[in-house]
Amino acid sequence: MMEHSFVNQFFFGDRIEAMQQNIPNNSIDLIITSPPYNVGIDYDNHNDLLPYSDYLTFLNNTWIECKRVLKRDGRIAINVPSVTADGSYQPLFVDVTNQLRNLGFLMRCDILWYKQAISKRTAWGSWQSPSNPHVVQPYEFILVFSKETKTHDGEKHKIDITKDEFISFSNSFWDIKPETQLSKFHPAPFPEELAYRLIKFYSYQDDIVLDPFGGSGTVANVAVKTNRRFVYIDNSEEYLDFAKKRVQNTIEDMRCNLFTQTL
Ligand SMILES: C[S@@+](CC[C@H](N)C(=O)[O-])C[C@H]1O[C@@H](n2cnc3c(N)ncnc32)[C@H](O)[C@@H]1O
Repeated sequence: MMEHSFVNQFFFGDRIEAMQQNIPNNSIDLIITSPPYNVGIDYDNHNDLLPYSDYLTFLNNTWIECKRVLKRDGRIAINVPSVTADGSYQPLFVDVTNQLRNLGFLMRCDILWYKQAISKRTAWGSWQSPSNPHVVQPYEFILVFSKETKTHDGEKHKIDITKDEFISFSNSFWDIKPETQLSKFHPAPFPEELAYRLIKFYSYQDDIVLDPFGGSGTVANVAVKTNRRFVYIDNSEEYLDFAKKRVQNTIEDMRCNLFTQTL
């Protein structure tokens, strides 16, 4: 297989510039990503409290570049909350869905990620009164689209999803605990299980999987574990260094396991 220079690489910088400078047209099989949610998280190098319309522009510009780099039969899976959490109740999952559809992507499905974790409640709205009560949302969405064609080409011997996995993952209610172990290294990582299911369900072995908001490197790490190739982008050097070490450790572990098995 011909190896491209952008494959299995960590790129530091803004997601659009990094894609423009490094990734050719029609070269990525699968994008899995979770953008900043615009909820005031203290990221290393990003203002996470933009006016909502500026935030939507930030997202839309990302999808335009994602579309360029995806193969014709490539897919994109975007993890977003249902609504913005700033009290203004903007339906983010609807707005992102419409952005992708307006760009010509074909919607495949939405997956509901049930996070189980209802953290300690403080914002009840009007407590025990119908005056103005609030609900909490212990779930997020994963919105999945194809670029131009719904069928993704690949060789039969590169399919590695098991029967049980296929049955389980094709039910769009995903009950997965949030990631808690990595929170001292990154403010908002998603769990490996989420990336694992998307990778196994939507890609073949050796496919190229991109995360333009790479963060702690979850997508890259799971891509390595599942024999896919990755492309990582983040505009924080700190997160990039962490992601690189995480992936290097995984590669070392896999080499050790292989060595032990051949003894
Ligand atoms: C929600 S986090 C992604 C977390 C990731 N899914 C994980 O499991 O670690 C969003 C990431 O986007 C990065 N980011 C924010 N603005 C960016 C930009 N303009 N270009 C590239 N990355 C950016 C942040 O540094 C942060 O790591």
